[in-house]
Amino acid sequence: MSLHNSKKVFVCGYPVAHSRSPLVHNYWLQKYQISGGYEKIAISPENFPNFLKSFQQLGFIGGNITLPHKETAFTNIDILDEAAKKIGAVNTLWIENGELAGSNTDAYGFTANLDDKVPGWDKNSDRKAVMIVGAGGASRAIMYGLLQRGFSRIFLANRTIEKAEHLAMEFGPHINPVPLGAVHPHLDSIELLINTTSLGMHADDEFPFSIDALPKTALVTDIVYTPVNTGLLKSAKARGYKTIDGLGMLLHQAAPGFQQWFGVKPEVTAKLRKIVEADIENARGSQ
Ligand code: ATR
Repeated sequence: MSLHNSKKVFVCGYPVAHSRSPLVHNYWLQKYQISGGYEKIAISPENFPNFLKSFQQLGFIGGNITLPHKETAFTNIDILDEAAKKIGAVNTLWIENGELAGSNTDAYGFTANLDDKVPGWDKNSDRKAVMIVGAGGASRAIMYGLLQRGFSRIFLANRTIEKAEHLAMEFGPHINPVPLGAVHPHLDSIELLINTTSLGMHADDEFPFSIDALPKTALVTDIVYTPVNTGLLKSAKARGYKTIDGLGMLLHQAAPGFQQWFGVKPEVTAKLRKIVEADIENARGSQ
């Protein structure tokens, strides 16, 4: 390791104390013997545009952007990749020929996690029906990821139907908006159910509809990872469905940034997963 080559990277949010990204990236830095650091920086929304202009002077080569800055980053960045353009938000940024460049790696995180856990999950994607629950930022990223993989029967269920309709207009005819109360007739054809809402983060959260009518072969996924085993995943397991939790997506979405900044494609391993899961459980236990 040579200290004078040490690269500094941040995760910027408001608040940011809860972020697990430093744990993930610092683990990789150590594992690959790279001299560098990854720090949490809390910046208020009013100061964020200025932070984007000045972070290089603070010695950073780039970083991750988290809530509530992902959309502001999108509007303040010079070079955007296709994913960021379509999703309308940036979670990873770096410097390219003196200009600010940004990507959104959430869609990659979602699909890479499924590739890892359920190889072949996207086979015959043009014939498989999927249902995304929720129409916020995470939903946009997953919709983009699914469209990229050729899914063409995507139901978008949301409490506020207007938001789902708006997204359907933007993302095109493969997206079918459905009010939460009207999902039932579609459930028996759904092969993949994805919760993108924050429901599940609190012990008394109840998923907005019964999943009993899903086919036995359906895969149930949640992007919530605090707790890792959400109410939705528990009830899906109890009914015999295959499930995928949100922690894998968190780990996989971190990899492209690490590769961009440090030049090594990091591996998402069971060991890393264990470390992050223990940290989440530990934090929950001390609440
Ligand atoms: P993010 O950007 O992190 O995806 P968001 O933009 O706050 O989050 O979106 C939250 C999503 O969770 C929305 O789809 C929201 O539904 P509305 O569009 O109707 O607000 C959904 N959501 C949050 N709380 C909910 C609840 N109690 N019941 C049903 N849906 C809920």
